[in-house]
Amino acid sequence: MELKTDLTEQQVQNRVREVGINPNYWYAVAWSENVKSQDTLGITIWSQPIVLYRDENDQVYALENACPHRGVALDKGEVHGCHVICPYHGWEISEKGECVNIPYFDANQKLPKAGVHSYPVCEKYGLIWVFPGDPNLADTVSLPEIAEYNDPDFFMIPVGAEFNAHFSICNENTMDVFHGYLHRNLQGWFNPKLLRLERTDQSVKADYQIAYQGWLSKVLNLNKDNAKVTYRTASVQYQYPHYYNTLEGVSSLYLMRLPASPTKSYSFSLLFVKVPLPRFIKRSLQSVLQVLIRRFVFRRFLNQDIEMIESEQQNYLLNPQRRYVEVNPAITALQRVTVQQYQQYQNQKQQDNGQHQDSANSELASQQCAKQTTEQLTN
Ligand code: FES
Ligand SMILES: [Fe+2]
Repeated sequence: MELKTDLTEQQVQNRVREVGINPNYWYAVAWSENVKSQDTLGITIWSQPIVLYRDENDQVYALENACPHRGVALDKGEVHGCHVICPYHGWEISEKGECVNIPYFDANQKLPKAGVHSYPVCEKYGLIWVFPGDPNLADTVSLPEIAEYNDPDFFMIPVGAEFNAHFSICNENTMDVFHGYLHRNLQGWFNPKLLRLERTDQSVKADYQIAYQGWLSKVLNLNKDNAKVTYRTASVQYQYPHYYNTLEGVSSLYLMRLPASPTKSYSFSLLFVKVPLPRFIKRSLQSVLQVLIRRFVFRRFLNQDIEMIESEQQNYLLNPQRRYVEVNPAITALQRVTVQQYQQYQNQKQQDNGQHQDSANSELASQQCAKQTTEQLTN
């Protein structure tokens, strides 16, 4: 659906700071390099603690991070083959989440029925992805398509960030190009104009015209002359629960959001820049350039954003009833998608619970009916 682009006072979705996630999507949870062979890593998706671990064949697994015996975090344990061993009493948990050995049981002693949830997990683009929702839906949902990942013309800079804020506040920062004001001293962008805005049930796409001037536009090869102003179209797309933005094929950013709790979020970003250098130079300078761009460009923008995002969260917590005024329709469209996705998941859950309840009730009814029949027959 195409929406109006006028900057007028918008109806703010107050609920947006309180909603949870729709877990029926793939969430990026860690950089691949941080889950070492035969080692564990504890992560959290929307307050669900999860242990990731890798076997010696490089296969990654994801289990609920709480031992079925007494709840100790399994990421404190050891990896044996494709199993993880809890450090407390040594219970061994398989990749399916089942307890398969208790070291102080006799060899033929029956094991208790104990287990943890096992999550669908996959690895792509140097990231580990987990599907926290209904495992039966995992195969029906795709990961973002990142065409630039294997394109030798692009230079990739991976950047991670941590925010003490609800994911909706973080997402709105990424969608809101008007906050170029914040980065004005870094010679970012200015004079943004919202040209086009579209929304579906799970996405928002906003095209902005943006003016660039200064060293950044020179680095991005937008402009040979530092002093000249160049106008470009930046396209920002939110495809629940992740982001993609592109600047006319010159640079692209894929930002994967990890909502860890109501006040903690992470991002795993892959920034691609078309650097006008021969490929062999780019390859040999890869690691140095990655560190330099990350530290001296990306990180400086990010630190400014983090300060604003966390300030917004703190004031929200001090007075959640206070109404704020928004004027960018792209933000209200984003809030609508965020609330709708959560609501959609809640409705689905209620429906499933209702069906369970119905079948439990009808089972109970048929048991009562069978009991009555038996009583009648025996009387
Ligand atoms: S708490 Fe894990 S084995 Fe006892
Ligand atoms: Fe920013």
